[in-house]
Amino acid sequence: MGYDILSKIIEFTDSEEALEKRLEDVAALLISFFAFDQCAIYLFDQEKKILILAVEAGSKQEGQRVYREDEGLPGLAIKTGKPVFITQFGRIKDVWQGIADKSASGFKTVICHPVKDDILYGALYMRSMDKKIISPKKKKLLAVIALQLATAIKNYECIVHLTDANKKMQDMQARLVHAEKLLALGEMAATLAHEIRNPLMSIGGFTKRLQQQLGADPSHSAYVERIVKEVERLEKLMDGIVRFSDKSGYELSLEDINNIIEEAAQFFEDEFKGSGIAVVRDMTPDMPRIEADRQQLKLVFNNLMANAIQAMAKGGTLTIQTRHEDNWIVTEMSDTGGGIDIKIMSNIFNPFYTTKETGTGLGLAITHTIVTNHKGIIEVNNNMGVGVTFVIKLPVAREQGGNYE
Ligand SMILES: Nc1ncnc2c1ncn2[C@@H]1O[C@H](COP(=O)(O)OP(=O)(O)OP(=O)(O)O)[C@@H](O)[C@H]1O
Ligand SMILES: [Mg+2]
Repeated sequence: MGYDILSKIIEFTDSEEALEKRLEDVAALLISFFAFDQCAIYLFDQEKKILILAVEAGSKQEGQRVYREDEGLPGLAIKTGKPVFITQFGRIKDVWQGIADKSASGFKTVICHPVKDDILYGALYMRSMDKKIISPKKKKLLAVIALQLATAIKNYECIVHLTDANKKMQDMQARLVHAEKLLALGEMAATLAHEIRNPLMSIGGFTKRLQQQLGADPSHSAYVERIVKEVERLEKLMDGIVRFSDKSGYELSLEDINNIIEEAAQFFEDEFKGSGIAVVRDMTPDMPRIEADRQQLKLVFNNLMANAIQAMAKGGTLTIQTRHEDNWIVTEMSDTGGGIDIKIMSNIFNPFYTTKETGTGLGLAITHTIVTNHKGIIEVNNNMGVGVTFVIKLPVAREQGGNYE
């Protein structure tokens, strides 16, 4: 008989089910085996030092949900480390031998058994309306059951901790891979940028000469002007990449974020007009300065604006907001380009990840690195079907009252 219930309890506690379901099964089994009316299982919160009701089986009357470690019959059981057995002819009142416990009230037999090995995991609380004689054999059996329950809860907690640790390790690994990719990217980009810069300067120089020779001839000057402008843009980009890969080359100075954003926006003025994009500025004036490499930060806003323009090829609104919040200068850049597909959200900061035919997938990776190098934070608020907001938080310069390390 005893072996039967033990093997069943082991079966329940070793099952793959969630802990709560297993405890429910155990509570139901105890009720039928001991012919009690109610069985509750409490779990001990090690931090708060309280017993919390996990499951209840049997008739509807509810027991107390939480017990302090010095409260009621469960409190007595866990304090002494020994089970409490009460059997009497009359019904138990709200107070038993000076211990107040409403959960016992109205019953004739009550068992409160600690669930523990070296550590306390919880308590079993069983109640019956009838007077029951609990034989020494049954008491021993109950002790074994409680120990088995303790082992099951302990194993479960170990698995939860392990899963948690595993997840943290995987996250860390992913971040390491990201950092490694960026490092490789930095080296490659620097080499490429060096190679491209020289011929680019020649193209720029010759085009300017061509511009002088063509004079004001309207049939060609528009094209030549475009070439000059594009070459300038590429030169700046190459400069940015060379600086991006060389962290020691950061030139920090006290900067006004509005001013940097304004300069970046001017760069795209033609594109905004051409695509029918309205730029709404909601920028707080006279904010504290940030400590930044001006060219690098400009690259950040260039990249974000370029993405916004590409997302709003058929027009829209780009809203740029800046504000001072505690120790941060916060910039929010929102577009109405439809947002980012939820499925690709986790990839957008990865180098070389792009959904565009002619994209390099470097824009946001570079942006992320520059913001992080400035001890800042970049966040994305995606509103699927509407647009996306990039939030950039940069620390207020220490000279300006910022107190970041
Ligand atoms: N404002 C935006 N709206 C919608 N999707 C965006 C936006 N910004 C970024 N994305 C998505 O994130 C991807 C990665 O952006 P990222 O700037 O890193 O590379 P890219 O724009 O594709 O290429 P490159 O910047 O080199 O031109 C984009 O391909 C696009 O799918
Ligand atoms: Mg981009």
